[in-house]
Amino acid sequence: MKRVKYTIANWKMNGSKKSIKIIKSVANHIKNTSHKKSTVVICPPFPFLAEAIKETKKISFGGQNCHHLSDGAFTGSISASMLKSIGCKYVIIGHSERREYQKEQTEELNLKIKIAIKNNLKVIYCIGEKLSQIKIRNKILKNQLNSIPKQINLKKLIIAYEPVWAIGTGRTPTTNEINNIHQKIRILLSKKIGRTKSQGISILYGGSVNPANAASILNLNQVDGALVGGASLKSSDFSKIIDSYS
Ligand code: PGA
Repeated sequence: MKRVKYTIANWKMNGSKKSIKIIKSVANHIKNTSHKKSTVVICPPFPFLAEAIKETKKISFGGQNCHHLSDGAFTGSISASMLKSIGCKYVIIGHSERREYQKEQTEELNLKIKIAIKNNLKVIYCIGEKLSQIKIRNKILKNQLNSIPKQINLKKLIIAYEPVWAIGTGRTPTTNEINNIHQKIRILLSKKIGRTKSQGISILYGGSVNPANAASILNLNQVDGALVGGASLKSSDFSKIIDSYS
């Protein structure tokens, strides 16, 4: 089964109302580029989503998080159905910054994935080890994959492998390591959901992807795209990454 390639921007808590111009410029680039090899998704902060969605159909949009319940007295939170209702197609779940600062763990993440998929959103589920966990990486990744609920529509699931120590640091594993780790993740997935189903799931790499290293990472046979933080805040850099697939 041919897997879909994705180039996904995670703006995190960056940008302003004026950042809509980044979206305009990336949309314009996609319109004119001959290298349209991946589905492009941008996940801006919540306040900019609705306007971004209205701006272009060339790009899909996603939230950076959603609550694990459908509604209620949860000040400051956003539900999966709210994201869906304004036209979002994707949501990032389990990003290491939320695991670290919001203490999100297995059970909550399991519910988030469930409710997002129930609301017809595609989930970009992030996993990855910290620097201190490199030696037990397999165990960490296996535990994190345990948050994936049973009996979900697997067509709605995308995995992003993001070593925490590579995020925003300018450091990445070697391309060999990335390819091997992605292969291991697919083996772990296949033990969980079966070989055939695991073959259909896109596994993206994230962590210091930039225009200079994108081609060497994105064209690895086990890598199905990228989740890009810092380099997605500059339209020219993000556009170069979009063009890096051969
Ligand atoms: P980075 O972030 O590209 O700035 O390293 C990636 C991410 O956290 O998704």
